[in-house]
Amino acid sequence: MAYNVVLLYGKYLYKHSINNNILSDLHKHNLKLVQNFVHSKPAIILGIESSCDDTACGIVDSNGTILGEAISSQYLTHLNFGGIIPSFARILHRNNITKTCENALKAANLKLKDIDAIATTVKPGLPLSLKVGAQFGKYLAKIGEKPFIPIHHMEAHALTARMSKKIDYPYLVLLVSGAHCLLAIVKNVNKFYLLGTSINNAPGEMFDKIARKLKLRNIPEFSTLNGGLAIETAASKASNVDQFLFPPILTKYYDCNFSFAALFSVCDMYIELEEKKHNIIGDAVIPDAYNLCAAFQLATVKHICQRTQRAMEFINKMSLFPENKRTWVVSGGVACNNFLAKALNIVCTELGYNFVRTPPKLCTDNGIMIAWNGVEKWIRDIDVIKDPNEIENIEIESTAPLGENWMKKVEEANLKCKWIKISRKLFPNNLTK
Ligand code: KG4
Ligand code: ZN
Repeated sequence: MAYNVVLLYGKYLYKHSINNNILSDLHKHNLKLVQNFVHSKPAIILGIESSCDDTACGIVDSNGTILGEAISSQYLTHLNFGGIIPSFARILHRNNITKTCENALKAANLKLKDIDAIATTVKPGLPLSLKVGAQFGKYLAKIGEKPFIPIHHMEAHALTARMSKKIDYPYLVLLVSGAHCLLAIVKNVNKFYLLGTSINNAPGEMFDKIARKLKLRNIPEFSTLNGGLAIETAASKASNVDQFLFPPILTKYYDCNFSFAALFSVCDMYIELEEKKHNIIGDAVIPDAYNLCAAFQLATVKHICQRTQRAMEFINKMSLFPENKRTWVVSGGVACNNFLAKALNIVCTELGYNFVRTPPKLCTDNGIMIAWNGVEKWIRDIDVIKDPNEIENIEIESTAPLGENWMKKVEEANLKCKWIKISRKLFPNNLTK
């Protein structure tokens, strides 16, 4: 690869185009690099993701162009077991990782030698799953003599939207997935302030469990859908959103934390009561499943909107963002939910925030988001590890909080919010009160 650089030799400055080998040997020629090199062609980063149940590889250049991708999802296998079994996930990751990376390179029409660095998720996630991706990423870095860029899975989710849209730092991000629910300020590529997180389950996990309890997969239309999409689709067919009532959540806590356990328990109770009432046995589904899905989805969405509203009001009160430049990004698998996106958009409009939904295809786990986080780090020379021994010693971490904890600061701001009413705007045809 050729770089345009400014070099100092004695007291003379030279503008030059040099290749990689010369760049690493400058001192031998008494040359000093005085201006950060500008890449004459975009850098190409290969990203590997294996933190949960998807084996994925993405190849992205520093202009944000997706060059190639491949994904091997374990979803249907785990669906048959009623949840992810970590040791099975590891076997499937091991079986699929080589082919997945080969397919991504093939799709990009590239070889390993064309790649500038290997970015890989090393935290947080299922340890057995993380290990497979990390080992393979290190192996590629070793045989290809490439730098290795360790990636935090949630940071990658938080930054993906910047790949296709110009979004300046700082901005607010909501990450909603099968394993996480959190609100954070993205100050920079490696600086995050955590405003709130779930104190129990994640919303995607809850959707998956309720879809299973409702046995939605026995309805052919839902048989291959993930739990969240099954609930969303079922909810869109509801005739009465008010048939099942859910309590408001955490109303006495003036923070931005989330709690989904109570909503889950109430929904679970409704399912049991309805099954008894209608003598449901075996694989049959309760008659009012669509109405229950709609009410459950609405209660979940309202809770997410309220906690986010407080985060925005906190940012405004503390003047953390310029008034004319307030942006809120949503990402993670649950952000694929169109009903949630519509509700979040209402909150954003009311509070003067610019709403950016990460493209749904990039909301769920994928290799592109890992490669893009690699690009963001590569450009700024952050965490680009070149020393083979240092690469070998990088450890995976199953838990890893996102950034600096600001939850206390939010609580201390003691913000009592007047909630934005979303139901009426979401159901203009009076489907609900
Ligand atoms: O981000 P992701 O792919 O993996 C994790 O890091 O967890 O998110 C997967 C989660 C699953 O729980 C799935 O049910 C949920 O995202 N999900 C949805 C929708 N599509 C996927 N939840 C609600 N509505 C959807 N349309
Ligand atoms: Zn994820």
